[in-house]
Amino acid sequence: PSTTTPTMTITPRPEELITADASLKDTLPRDFWFAAATAAYQIEGGWDEDGKGASNWDVLMNDDPRFGESGDGKIACDSYHQWREDIALLKKYGMNSYRFSLAWSRIIPDGGAEDPVNEKGVEYYDNLINGLLDQDITPFATIFHWDHPYTLEQRYNGFESVDDIVRDFVNYARVCFERFGDRVKHWITINEPLVYTLFNATYMKEGRWTDKEHAAFVRGLVLCHAYTVELYDREFRAKQGGEIGITLNIDICVPIDDADPAARAAAHASVDHMLGMYADPIYLGFFPRTAIDRFGEEHLSFTDAQWAVVNAAAGKVDFFGINHYSTSYATGKWFDYETADKWKRTRGLQERVKERNGQVIGNKGQDGHPYDVPWGFRRLLRHIHNRYTRKLGIPIIVTENGFAVDQEYKMTTEEACHVGDIQRQQFYAGYIRELALAVRDDKIPITGYMCWSLLDNIEWTTGHIPRFGLTAIDFSSPKRTRTPKDSPFMLRRVFDHLVS
Ligand code: NOJ
Repeated sequence: PSTTTPTMTITPRPEELITADASLKDTLPRDFWFAAATAAYQIEGGWDEDGKGASNWDVLMNDDPRFGESGDGKIACDSYHQWREDIALLKKYGMNSYRFSLAWSRIIPDGGAEDPVNEKGVEYYDNLINGLLDQDITPFATIFHWDHPYTLEQRYNGFESVDDIVRDFVNYARVCFERFGDRVKHWITINEPLVYTLFNATYMKEGRWTDKEHAAFVRGLVLCHAYTVELYDREFRAKQGGEIGITLNIDICVPIDDADPAARAAAHASVDHMLGMYADPIYLGFFPRTAIDRFGEEHLSFTDAQWAVVNAAAGKVDFFGINHYSTSYATGKWFDYETADKWKRTRGLQERVKERNGQVIGNKGQDGHPYDVPWGFRRLLRHIHNRYTRKLGIPIIVTENGFAVDQEYKMTTEEACHVGDIQRQQFYAGYIRELALAVRDDKIPITGYMCWSLLDNIEWTTGHIPRFGLTAIDFSSPKRTRTPKDSPFMLRRVFDHLVS
């Protein structure tokens, strides 16, 4: 397709929700970050090349019949070899920034503070970062997007062993700052600790976690973040002149019936628990009541020295990164997965549904994935602003938002890129409009919007499905040919209209 005239078959075109509204013109500041996001395991492949160590995800997904058929990360999108093509796509889509993650097992194959750095792994990221900067694309690096050297699992059960993981994580972060911080000025410590915890509870630990172990894992993640922020602030921030934050996630829920106190309480508790579990300690310096009730105070406590670091770090985080996809209704009933599926033993969740009085909350995406509910996005942005960022005087960056079209994987590339993609464009137009209104009318400082994802990629535990990409990947051939869908060009026109 041409970069300016995508093949569209419906009128009005989804983007007109924004581009036909003159009152939205120039709503966003000139330096607004318009980006796409990816993660190392999901796109790189080259899983054992040039000295890379095996990661927890390589071990979980490679050759496992539960995941194998739908694809693992051995080749993924082949970005280990095709990073130049990725940069060319970002340029073509008019993006001024790129959020990617660093693979710990590529940089320090065995992961530990005493283990050697793999120069070949560093070189890969040097090339990527330099390539981005050559094209005027600003790198946002996620230090930990869920993949760590498997050795750390074997040595001490990863994040469950709090002191060990903090020591090794902070050493790894130091290597990242030392090697890349002269050029990377935007750091994200950890991606979605909540979902990472959930994956560990369900797949890595196969449901055998005690509350004590689960809570240790939560503490491990909070402390890795806090000590990394402290390190950056103490040794690198002034010298390198960058910023650091974290990416949290929440698909919020709203009461199914505003008049029902149980539904209201459930919606409130659910947001408080799911976002607050990490956002409260990280930005406010304490655990929310819901998390303490869930795990017990004794399991969520830190030493005085640890609390001092957590509290200090809370005031030093430069932005609130949020990943958001969808919204559902809270019914007020408890849902217990324990009996439903042995791989999904997650207790203590409120029931969340997608229908009210026979009405679906929004357009449906890929099974188990997004429903298109733009108004929920604005409610979430207001919640984050009111509870966290307003008081701290820091901006929000939307570090992920996107849509997986249902059945897209059954379509030809041609269909997926044009007809199938229309639903994705509708999603983006609706959500970005709400973002613009949140900036313009609610006066919420939001400094960036990153689409998930640059490429169709390897989804955690499900492989080639669902497909969130702005670019289709041909998974049937090891060449992993890239074909742009229509949505990135629409996004480009939308941001041309919105950014002053
Ligand atoms: C959030 C995660 O950060 C990303 O890795 C994942 O692929 C998307 N959600 C879609 O599920």
